[in-house]
Amino acid sequence: MQLSTKHLLGIKDLLPSDISLILSTAQQFKEVLQRPIKKVPSLRDVTIVNLFYENSTRTRISFELAEKRLSADTINFAASASSVSKGETLLDTVNNILSMKVDMVVMRHSASGAPHFLSKHLPDTAIVNAGDGINEHPTQALLDAFSITEKLGTLEGKKILLIGDIMHSRVALSNIYLLTKMGAEVMLSGPPTLMPKYMEAALGVKIEYNLKKALAWCDVANVLRIQLERQNQVLFSSLREYNRAYGVTSKLLSEIDKDIVIMHPGPINRGVEIDSDVADSKNSVILKQVENGVAVRMAVLYLLSGKKELSS
Ligand code: NCD
Repeated sequence: MQLSTKHLLGIKDLLPSDISLILSTAQQFKEVLQRPIKKVPSLRDVTIVNLFYENSTRTRISFELAEKRLSADTINFAASASSVSKGETLLDTVNNILSMKVDMVVMRHSASGAPHFLSKHLPDTAIVNAGDGINEHPTQALLDAFSITEKLGTLEGKKILLIGDIMHSRVALSNIYLLTKMGAEVMLSGPPTLMPKYMEAALGVKIEYNLKKALAWCDVANVLRIQLERQNQVLFSSLREYNRAYGVTSKLLSEIDKDIVIMHPGPINRGVEIDSDVADSKNSVILKQVENGVAVRMAVLYLLSGKKELSS
């Protein structure tokens, strides 16, 4: 089985069969990660550069770990420590790196569409989008899907709620594409000023501004951070007010009295979008998401490399 695409730029371009293939391959890699020796030689002759033009903790470490577990050679590049600060263009930087014989590029960039731009100019190098502006974050949606499937057995027919700053969240958009392609029902909740109104009709999701009603509806609540760094105007009154209206609190959950799986892509702002006791509760799979991220990224890198054997 092969992916229908040479790059992973977004979930938007994937077929449901691509998503299923990535998730089932990730399951095999998750088993590898439980062995005493967590490493396979699958990408032994493959060199990958991690190009991070924007801050990241989890995603960068997760990709690096996935690459090391696959025995790839890796190079890490952080924009602030490079010639980018001397005015070099994106394409020049990448062309210079590629002339050193690099096979794959994992890229995070604050500009939406940056990895798509690269893929047009570098058709022979596999590009993996690790988050582009407010557009997509495909590996996050894949690891979220893997974690939901692990907990609930399937995505089909499950009711998934995304809460918060939908407008500036690439995690939300990738999740919406993935979950609707795989037959889940999606609802969005958050302040009206952070809710893109087009989504309901264009993407086949429901919008419910009353958080309590939305929580009562769902099987899974994926709580998102307010992306303050992407907001250049005042879109809500204060973090405290936000917490009052849209914070997922144990008080609210106890009023609903239903077991809801709690997710968050991180970084968490405790006491703003989610209370500490909810983030650390038995229904929270937040750390499982991080664990599953490595297996999912191994699957993506492995499948895009075009290697045939999953290895021993
Ligand atoms: C997300 C991101 O960077 O888009 N985080 C992540 O990758 N784990 C979400 C966020 O920053 O809030």
